[in-house]
Amino acid sequence: MVEVSTSILSVKEGEEAEVFLALEKAKTDYFHIDVMDGKFVEKNTYNKMLSYSKYIKRISSLPLDVHFMVEDVENAIEDFICVEPNNITFHYEACKNKEEVYKLIEKIKQNNCRVSLAVKPETKIEEIYEFLPYIHMCLIMTVEPGKGGQTMLNDMIQKIEKLKKYIENNKLEIDIQVDGGINLKTAPFVKNAGANVLVSGSAILLAKDYSVIIDELKKENT
Ligand code: DX5
Ligand code: ZN
Repeated sequence: MVEVSTSILSVKEGEEAEVFLALEKAKTDYFHIDVMDGKFVEKNTYNKMLSYSKYIKRISSLPLDVHFMVEDVENAIEDFICVEPNNITFHYEACKNKEEVYKLIEKIKQNNCRVSLAVKPETKIEEIYEFLPYIHMCLIMTVEPGKGGQTMLNDMIQKIEKLKKYIENNKLEIDIQVDGGINLKTAPFVKNAGANVLVSGSAILLAKDYSVIIDELKKENT
């Protein structure tokens, strides 16, 4: 099954309520919350995303898929756990060493939350193989993290295929999420390669009818 997680990073101010409700109606599977700290990436969306998450929690029952692009993951977990995310993703590159990765995985699990590890485009997928048995999902960034509306990096297709093969060979049960530049043109390629959770921001938000594009993104390749 393919699921869609809609990134609300580029929702226009003043249109939030209308857009969030329309996305729920159009059956997005998750709201994807891009949390940036102005250090791990240039932009800072930290407080805005925290208040959006609290707002969504009040008006919707859909699960929150929180993507931390922050240096201080531990503090971010503490700040965001109150919105009861379904999933928290943090970046492998934000960790000093392997011990820190394991510690953060544990901390997220202790809060009854699914945990996912993200890798930037230049990070080799092999670097995170040892953590796979302990996490629920792996996020392959298909653009450089930091902003919406970028073009998907085609090289990432091979990375997805490699991870998918490793997961199958090792009989692991783990989702593969992709994030960045996912639209109706790129989606068939990432799905073919093995991705089953598609994050999409601008392609959905700029579409005339959210449900048409979400349905299309969710379709299995034929
Ligand atoms: C990029 C973010 C993405 C981004 C997706 O750093 O993690 O979630 O907002 O937006 P689009 O679909 O526009 O690339
Ligand atoms: Zn994201």
